[in-house]
Parts: sequence; structure tokens; C-alpha cells
Amino acid sequence: MLDKKNILIGVTGGIAAYKVVEVASRLKKSGANVRVMMTAAATEFVSPRTFEEITGNAVFVEMFGDAAHFHVAHIALADFADLILIAPATANFLAKAAHGIADDLLTTTILASDKPLLIAPSMNTKMFLNPATQENLRILKARGVKILEPAIGELACGTSGKGRLPEPVEIYAVVDKFFTSEQILSGKKVIVTAGGTVEAIDPVRYIGNRSSGRMGYEIASSALNSGAEVVLISGKAEIAPPNGLKEFIKVESALKMREEVLKRFESTDCVIMSAAVADYRVKTPAAQKIKKDSENLTLELVKNPDILRELGSIKKNQVLVGFAAETQNILEYANKKLVEKNLDFIVANDVTLEGAGFGVSTNIASIIWRNGSVESFSKMSKADLAEKIVARVADLLNNDKKLFPVNTNQ
Ligand code: C5P
Repeated sequence: MLDKKNILIGVTGGIAAYKVVEVASRLKKSGANVRVMMTAAATEFVSPRTFEEITGNAVFVEMFGDAAHFHVAHIALADFADLILIAPATANFLAKAAHGIADDLLTTTILASDKPLLIAPSMNTKMFLNPATQENLRILKARGVKILEPAIGELACGTSGKGRLPEPVEIYAVVDKFFTSEQILSGKKVIVTAGGTVEAIDPVRYIGNRSSGRMGYEIASSALNSGAEVVLISGKAEIAPPNGLKEFIKVESALKMREEVLKRFESTDCVIMSAAVADYRVKTPAAQKIKKDSENLTLELVKNPDILRELGSIKKNQVLVGFAAETQNILEYANKKLVEKNLDFIVANDVTLEGAGFGVSTNIASIIWRNGSVESFSKMSKADLAEKIVARVADLLNNDKKLFPVNTNQ
């Protein structure tokens, strides 16, 4: 519930403005005080009257026209808001917001505000991908503005691509999450690896594993909701990445994953390695598809580098979290990895248990700490487990905790 939360919605002139009527309605129904400001172009798509009826509040469009409602409107609106949501946000709005241009009520209010800003861009794919728009988004993100990435799909202009405003229920969920989750990782940089690596046998076949990527994607999502700047480096995964990532990097092999993680390691605060990294790769993948001419085929495998172990050996203040997916002697194996890889904590789970491990949306895990203490969790959703992991990372980072000494008796 968003009881008594003050939400200011800025509607700019995109065709998706009609979807924001439903967003306003959902926010209002969940108890929020909703006020709407619109650009002149937005009023060409939806009448201010519609928003007035939905929110029960006057809608602001003119810079100098609504004095009867609010004393200096842009200041009063900026003060009113606990959160400002701009949806849909046009390319024109992004450009103005990025450069501090204030030529109407909506942009002036943004400039007069120090409140959290959530922007949902929506436009034609080419406009969205235009380097000017992308640069404006980069500037806004670097200032801490949260961008709700547009979805991929059919666009009003008759084309298909990235640029659709997410559905009202999704926008509502992001606003709801903003108020219900604490920004415990604000200002922190987190790298999450997820999914399974793929090791080529030939151009057609590969050696892979059963990882779905779900645990890692939930961790990335939870870290994002906690205010972190998140880079998700993903092997093979069956799901869509969360909105708002700083970078989403798809890799195939363990070697490529290692390269991408190492490139960013020095400047990150934390690495959570939930990827299922192949321990071995084919020594020499065939350049052409292997024919089934002989009865037997022998592949020579060579060991892959252990990314986490390498990070553990060079880490300075970074928090390092590993995973141990085991089928037996879980705590013992996990503890061994924790020590050998120089981790802050390790998340261990028995992948043979029902409701745990690959492909399912739940997990049954334990967190093992360097002092030997073990936190065991009952079966819970991967999203809930992700929140627990993120909370512990935040605790380590925010309290500047030094590594616990390793308890070698374990
Ligand atoms: O030693 P093991 O592979 O079981 O350790 C699992 C942990 O180490 C996971 O966090 C996994 O992402 C990471 N790992 C790695 N590089 C490898 C193998 C595993 O970083 N080559």
C-alpha cells in the first residue's frame, strides 16, 4: 500500500500518455496522493480533465495559469512530491532534463526538485537509440535518476522495437517497490554473474549446464531495487534481464566471463558470482561441424580458470560472494570454497532437494560466514533469498566491516 505517499506524475507528449491514466488510477487506489502535471503536447493526447477525475486533484499545465490552486506552482509541486514519475518521457523531455532546460511548468518543476526521479521513456526505436538520446539517458542515470527501460514490442508508429512504455501494472510495481524497499545499496557498484557458461565443441554444439539464471537475475533485480548501480554479466539464461541495469553483458564461455568481470573488478564494490561457470572447456573446438563418421568421439577438456578464486587473490575492499551448488556434504564443501576463494560469504544449496537448485523459482540455502557461523534458510522464493543476500552485502559495505578471520577448525 502506498498510503499517503505523495506522487507527482509528469506526463509528456507521447502517444503512450493514455496508459498513464491507468498508472495514476492504480496509485490513487492504493492510497497515494497523486498530482499530475502535463506538457502542452501531452494534452493533445489525453485531456487534463481525465487526470483530474482520476486523481481528484487539479492538473497543472500552464506555468502562469493555475495560481488559484497553488501559490508558485512549480515550487509547490516539487515540495509536495515524495517521488516524481515522468511517464511517458519523450526524447525532447530527456534532452531538456539532462541539460537543465526549464521552458514549461513540467521541466521547471523538475529543476526545482531534489526529490527522487523515476523516468519512463517511450518513443520510436530510432529516436530511443539515437546517440543524443542515449547520451541524455547516460547523463540522467549518472545523476542518480532511475530510468525505467522501455519494453520491446509494437510501437504506435507501426514499427516494432525498443521504445514501448512498460505496462501500467509494471510501472506501478516499480513505484510500489521504491516505497517499500530501502535504498541500502545507494551509491554502490555491484557486479552480478548469472546463468550457465557455454563451452563450444564445434560451431553447432557446446557443453553447458542446467542453470536457468534465475537466482542471479533476482539478485541483480534486488540490488537495483536497493539503489545499487548493477552490471549483470550473464551466460546462458532463459529469462529477461531486469530494468535499469547499468550494463547487461551476455557472454558464452568462462574465458569471456572472466575477461568481462576482471575488466570492471577494480572499480566495483562487490561481486556476486552466482553463475554456473564450466570447470572445463574443450581444448580445441573444431572449426567445422564434427561429422558422425567414427563410432567414438573423444573430446579433450582443459581446466577453465576459476574466476572467483582469482578475484579472491587480488581483491582489496570488494565484498565477494560465491555460490556452492552441491549434491552432497554441502556445508563442508562450501566452507572449503569460502576459504580457498577468499570470500566474504558463500551461499550453499543442495541442488538435489525438491524446491531448490536449477530451473525452479524457489531455493533452500544456507549462508556460511568466515567465522564459521551458518545461517540456514527454509524454502523460499529466489526473489526473497536474493533480498537476504543483498541485505548482507549492504551490511558489509555500509559498516565497512573488515573480513572476519577464517575459522580453520571448521
Ligand atoms: O568451485 P566451484 O565451481 O564449485 O565454486 C562455485 C563458485 O565459484 C560459484 O560462485 C561460481 O560462480 C564460481 N566459479 C568461478 N569460476 C569457475 C568456477 C566457479 O568463478 N571456473
